Amino acid sequence: MKEIWLCFLFAVAAISAQPGGAASTQLPCDLRETPHGSVCVCNRTYCDYLEQPELNEGSRIVVISSSKDGLRFKVTTGDLSNKAPLVVEDKQSTDENFHAEAIVVDQHRAWLNLASIPQRLFINASVKTVSVSVKREQRYQNVTNFGGALTGTVSHLLQLLPTELQDHVYKSYYHDDGIAYNSIRTSIGGCDFDLEPWAYNELSRNDVALSNFTELDPRDLQKIEQLKRLKSVARMEELKIMAAAWSAPPWMKTNDRWTGFGQLKSEYYQTWALYHLKFLELMQSKNMPIWAISTGNEPLNGVIGFFFVHFMSMGWTPWQQAIWLSDHLGPTIRNSTQKPVLIFGNDDQRYTFPSWFRKMRSSRSNSLSYLDGLAVHWYWDELVGPQLIDQAHAEMPNMLLLNTESCIGDKPWQTHGPELGSWQRGENYMRAYIQDFQHNFNGWLDWNLVLDEKGGPNYVNNFVDAPIIVNATSRSEIYKQPIYYAIGHFSKFLPAQSVRIETRIEGENNSFSQLSVVGFQRPDGSVALIVYNGQNLPVDVALNDSQSGAFNLLLPPRSWHTVLYK
Ligand SMILES: *[C@@H]1O[C@H](CO)[C@@H](O)[C@H](O)[C@H]1NC(C)=O
Ligand SMILES: *[C@@H]1O[C@H](CO)[C@@H](O)[C@H](O)[C@H]1NC(C)=O
Ligand SMILES: *[C@@H]1O[C@H](CO)[C@@H](O)[C@H](O)[C@H]1NC(C)=O
Ligand SMILES: *[C@@H]1O[C@H](CO)[C@@H](O)[C@H](O)[C@H]1NC(C)=O
Ligand SMILES: *[C@@H]1O[C@H](CO)[C@@H](O)[C@H](O)[C@H]1NC(C)=O
Ligand SMILES: *[C@@H]1O[C@H](CO)[C@@H](O)[C@H](O)[C@H]1NC(C)=O
Ligand SMILES: *[C@@H]1O[C@H](CO)[C@@H](O)[C@H](O)[C@H]1NC(C)=O
Ligand SMILES: *[C@@H]1O[C@H](CO)[C@@H](O)[C@H](O)[C@H]1NC(C)=O
Repeated sequence: MKEIWLCFLFAVAAISAQPGGAASTQLPCDLRETPHGSVCVCNRTYCDYLEQPELNEGSRIVVISSSKDGLRFKVTTGDLSNKAPLVVEDKQSTDENFHAEAIVVDQHRAWLNLASIPQRLFINASVKTVSVSVKREQRYQNVTNFGGALTGTVSHLLQLLPTELQDHVYKSYYHDDGIAYNSIRTSIGGCDFDLEPWAYNELSRNDVALSNFTELDPRDLQKIEQLKRLKSVARMEELKIMAAAWSAPPWMKTNDRWTGFGQLKSEYYQTWALYHLKFLELMQSKNMPIWAISTGNEPLNGVIGFFFVHFMSMGWTPWQQAIWLSDHLGPTIRNSTQKPVLIFGNDDQRYTFPSWFRKMRSSRSNSLSYLDGLAVHWYWDELVGPQLIDQAHAEMPNMLLLNTESCIGDKPWQTHGPELGSWQRGENYMRAYIQDFQHNFNGWLDWNLVLDEKGGPNYVNNFVDAPIIVNATSRSEIYKQPIYYAIGHFSKFLPAQSVRIETRIEGENNSFSQLSVVGFQRPDGSVALIVYNGQNLPVDVALNDSQSGAFNLLLPPRSWHTVLYK
């Protein structure tokens, strides 16, 4: 869809923001205009990074900003004791692309100028002030995980790139100067983003003891080499790897196929538990231990979803899965060297919550005791409210709650594949992350770390978007999408053990519906607020923190920010 708002001029009169800190080695985004907006371009020798901002002075405030008009992790600093609002200046549009409309703002008023109409039709509007209170004493869930997925497709694409670009992908996602992910999801065998469907021990058939599953697949060995490189480039001690199986080899299934209406044959329930254990042991033997598994990716695809799902899947009803978990998988894992591996349930869409777990409990009352967490996929969240998650959390308050898959482009009404530079898709992520963290989620694992220009490749021609797109034609550039920065405004600034605190927008119903805020206290005691302005106008945010007091921020149109202070 063609965007109406082509550019903004966000000029500021009479108010000076204090300039950023001293010289540093970080590099800004190399912004390139694309059909849907703009992306940050990295090549072998250049990629944008931002060192973690320092807050050592007591009353310092640091605002990191990204905007539709071209800000990407721009740093503005100020002082909490300063009475004038801290102004985030948007990218100054150059004269040549300043052709459609502009917003000029001083401290109190905005002039919206549609360039094609006469001067007297300038719209002279007040800049709305929205009051936000931050109550540090009211604490909610901990933050535990941020990450993406190393699918077969991602592994394949990384291998096409020169080493320096592979390293930029790893550093961009996992280094502190990138967006500081700590987790990664991968598949046990193949998944939908692979070059073909595959599993261990496809032959021989009816091999209950899995005697032909004695080593990992060459595709796993490639992933392990990539993970080692990732950890070294990102200087990570611990990487939390989450794994899930999409399908058993066809001989274990009722339909003897990779996809379609098919379930695990009950005579192979223990074999399928053993299959998981063998994978965990083999990964550990390669010094790449698994942190968590789920009970299987999207179990409903093989029960009700098979009309439109043509990739590897295996169906489970909650009643059957409870039997497999409590009689086979749970005891097998807990009674093995892999005992510490966490087990997550469901790994499917929000609309299955919380009834999936109630049905499991009704089938095997102890089945949920084998679970450490609940895994949710994002795809239908815009149609299904978060109340279902609230109910599940209320019934199982001690479970970790993770979003374990998300991407855009899967729906019939969406562009299949990447929309390079789409701010709107970034905003979809921004709204979704804010909503989930307001509803007790502990973290979020996105889907493919990288895809090619078409949003693939994979064996079912299912093309979707990703936060970083690689140029698989030239193999010399990668493109960081607005989605990457949307996620980064959370993951980069919320180390594990950050705790959500209360933030409330005063008079939310009538004043300004397109401002959203979620707040956290970080392990060092500082506060991180993620603030999203979804409106085509600037906004004045009057913050009032229960400990630091009141201060104002003037934020540009269509922008999001991480606000840090002690
Ligand atoms: C890489 O990008 C930088 C920054 O845009 C540019 O100066 C440099 O020429 C590029 N290198 C190549 C090989 O294209
Ligand atoms: C905008 O409105 C304010 C208050 O109504 C007025 O003082 C000011 O002169 C107006 N500015 C322009 C450029 O019309
Ligand atoms: C958050 O983590 C801390 C430290 O591990 C723990 O003591 C606390 O109970 C956790 N809080 C919640 C709500 O999980
Ligand atoms: C074991 O699996 C390999 C493929 O991974 C296959 O070539 C071989 O025939 C299998 N062995 C038996 C005994 O089925
Ligand atoms: C664990 O394994 C031991 C030895 O094989 C067995 O005696 C025990 O019953 C097992 N426990 C569970 C919970 O499966
Ligand atoms: C990929 O690189 C080629 C060669 O430089 C270029 O023609 C093409 O436009 C690039 N693709 C994208 C999506 O930018
Ligand atoms: C918001 O709406 C609620 C319920 O409709 C109402 O009770 C409350 O007074 C409203 N708040 C404001 C600031 O208008
Ligand atoms: C900030 O909130 C406190 C209560 O927590 C209140 O007493 C104070 O008046 C508020 N300040 C402003 C400027 O709104």
